[in-house]
Amino acid sequence: MTEKFSAYFTEKQKQINNRLLWPDNFNAPENVIKAMNYSLAAGGKRIRPVLCLMIEDVLRNDFKSANSSDIVNLGLALEYIHTYSLIHDDLPAMDNDNLRRGVPTCHIKFGEAGAILAGDALLTHAFYLSSDLKHCKSIEIFKKIQQFLSISAGAAGMAGGQMLDLEAENREITFEHLKKIHSLKTGKLLEAAVLLPVIYYERNDVYCALEIFSRNIGLSFQIIDDLLDETATALELGKNPGSDTAKKKSTYVSHLGIEGARQEAQRCRQNALSALTAVNHTDTFYLKELAEFINTRSN
Ligand code: IPE
Ligand code: IPE
Ligand code: MG
Ligand code: MG
Ligand code: MG
Repeated sequence: MTEKFSAYFTEKQKQINNRLLWPDNFNAPENVIKAMNYSLAAGGKRIRPVLCLMIEDVLRNDFKSANSSDIVNLGLALEYIHTYSLIHDDLPAMDNDNLRRGVPTCHIKFGEAGAILAGDALLTHAFYLSSDLKHCKSIEIFKKIQQFLSISAGAAGMAGGQMLDLEAENREITFEHLKKIHSLKTGKLLEAAVLLPVIYYERNDVYCALEIFSRNIGLSFQIIDDLLDETATALELGKNPGSDTAKKKSTYVSHLGIEGARQEAQRCRQNALSALTAVNHTDTFYLKELAEFINTRSN
């Protein structure tokens, strides 16, 4: 990863972190806010919102100006949905994990009911944020954005993928099915991070290329997550490794082994890079670096 990319990524993370916590102006009960902010503030790479901001820069071919408040709001909405998905993913009824983002999981700290409600509230507020668009060009685009986000997070997207993931525990599944699980449970939100700005700016000319790009980085993101579960330490990860083996999860590592999974992640990265060749007249340096970062990250 180059210094140029790292500085750019850090700057985008800051833009998101500055606006991330629950704003104190809704008169909401204290304990639900505490649980939401606990998980939001614990850390995290912010890759979904950062990607959203990065795509706006690519579409405007401007990597220096501040991002628009509308795209920042879409990025925040994605991080709210993602954080909710992690809180629920860690619950005893799901992956039953007790460490997340380097701290005890939300249900360990606030109880199961507290964690469920914090997740509900994060998901709901995401749609408040995504609808807070001041310069959206038309009601059709506005509607498309809300629907795309809803589909990406819901039964046909992340939540559906989580269902398939749980059903695949302790059981042999085909490689095709495994790919489908990963593309839904993790891929769909990353796809939304890339495509929401494309929809917002009505950039049909690059839609297909960026869709292929997003699907490939989404898949490699979860393949690397599977690999890290097998190879990294709790200190590096901020979560307990070995969780997948303990639950007999179907993962790229359980199917292909460590080397095979690594090769598959590289293949996805290559596909993502090839797709970018169709994105003309703009600088795709940061997107290429991001694909590299996803594959070489240590947490
Ligand atoms: C972890 O996501 C769960 C997956 C969908 C693979 P991240 O690796 O983006 O987690 P944070 O946000 O950085 O904690
Ligand atoms: C989670 O996949 C995907 C989500 C939608 C949250 P994992 O269950 O592998 O994520 P981690 O390893 O707990 O972060
Ligand atoms: Mg899981
Ligand atoms: Mg998990
Ligand atoms: Mg995992």
